[in-house]
Amino acid sequence: MKKFTVFVILGTRPEAIKMAPLIIQLNKNENFICKVVSTGQHKEMLKQVFTFFKIKVDFELNVMTKNQTLSSLSQKIILGLDKLFLNNKPDLIYVHGDTTTSMVSSLVAFYHQIKIAHIEAGLRTNNLLSPFPEEANRKINGVLANLHFAPTENAKKSLIKENTEKSKIFVTGNTVIDALFLTKNKLKSNNELTFDNGLKLKSLKDKKIILVTGHRRENIGEGFISICKALKTIANRHEQVHIVFPVHLNPNVKDVVFKYLSQVNNITLTSPFSYPEFVNIMSASYLILTDSGGVQEEAPSLGVPVLVMRDTTERPEAVEAGTVKLVGANCDRIVDEVSLLLTNKKYYFDMSKSSNPYGDGEACKKIISQTIDFLT
Ligand code: UD1
Ligand code: UDP
Repeated sequence: MKKFTVFVILGTRPEAIKMAPLIIQLNKNENFICKVVSTGQHKEMLKQVFTFFKIKVDFELNVMTKNQTLSSLSQKIILGLDKLFLNNKPDLIYVHGDTTTSMVSSLVAFYHQIKIAHIEAGLRTNNLLSPFPEEANRKINGVLANLHFAPTENAKKSLIKENTEKSKIFVTGNTVIDALFLTKNKLKSNNELTFDNGLKLKSLKDKKIILVTGHRRENIGEGFISICKALKTIANRHEQVHIVFPVHLNPNVKDVVFKYLSQVNNITLTSPFSYPEFVNIMSASYLILTDSGGVQEEAPSLGVPVLVMRDTTERPEAVEAGTVKLVGANCDRIVDEVSLLLTNKKYYFDMSKSSNPYGDGEACKKIISQTIDFLT
């Protein structure tokens, strides 16, 4: 039997989390020889994911530098992948979502006439500057891909609107739900989970935990200053809350957050959590404030309300389900919305209904089955 050689290419934390269940299943499937290519766009935050999911990297490009620019990052990935594909040509590559890693990988694979499968295809805000540069990245991936794995019907509609060939689009759900379910199962069998960075969840058991993450380029500068001011006001105004903020390693985020928030009593700033730690604390949280894409998909499944500190979202399904709300990065708006969720029980109850608009945990199975049909 002929085996298909496929490369799973990833570089950032969310790509690794969302590709991990696919790598695990491809490795078990006798139709495939699966190789993992890491661009190393992220370093420490990527390693955390590899360690937890026991992912072995076959090709490492190791491109990350401190405060990298989009152009220098792209240039290094282009050169690294070009060299790799000259010596190792797979039947197909999998890329994910909208990062520089995924967009550049599609481009280089296209130059080498290698087939491309795009996972998490069809997400759109229809605003090229928000999120920047991700909206452009995912559109470019859409133009170059041979297979489009859309997480939702809505994403499929967006692809069709752009004249993507219908027969190449498959609605699979988002693989992040596969990763979440896998992790929750592992957590169930390991009640002893402790936090590497010393955080003690038990000591917060009488508090309402507000979990915060943030990293979007559009929020860097004014946006993060405004977010930090809002968090300080919330912490001072509501004694019953404890804010837990695992800070992204981007120096443009880290420096501002530590400058404004490191001295506030009921705010804990930590280094990024490993994925199981993060899933654990998401589940224990009263509400989540974030500008992250992945967190908007995971939290509804856990029944935790999310306020999104952005003006746009490419994930409208949970907003429509009423469990996620866009609040932007405006200080007063964030303070008001959090206060409402802390004080209005009915409002809180309505937002904390669990819903699963992003998948049923079977996305990877569907992706693998469609890939076999396509390659055969
Ligand atoms: C990238 C993705 C974004 C994704 C995010 C997930 C692009 C254009 N952006 O943004 O879509 O949502 O990852 O987090 O691809 N750093 C470290 N160690 C790490 C990771 C980052 O030190 O493990 C620092 C480095 O100084 C690096 C900087 O963060 O230069 C920015 O990293 P980069 O990948 O360029 O951008 P992100 O904002 O993380
Ligand atoms: N996450 C994590 N540790 C943290 C914060 C987030 O493992 O300290 C996970 C989170 O559960 C989600 C993913 O990282 O699956 C989101 O990554 P990020 O916000 O960096 O990127 P985005 O989803 O916005 O592309």
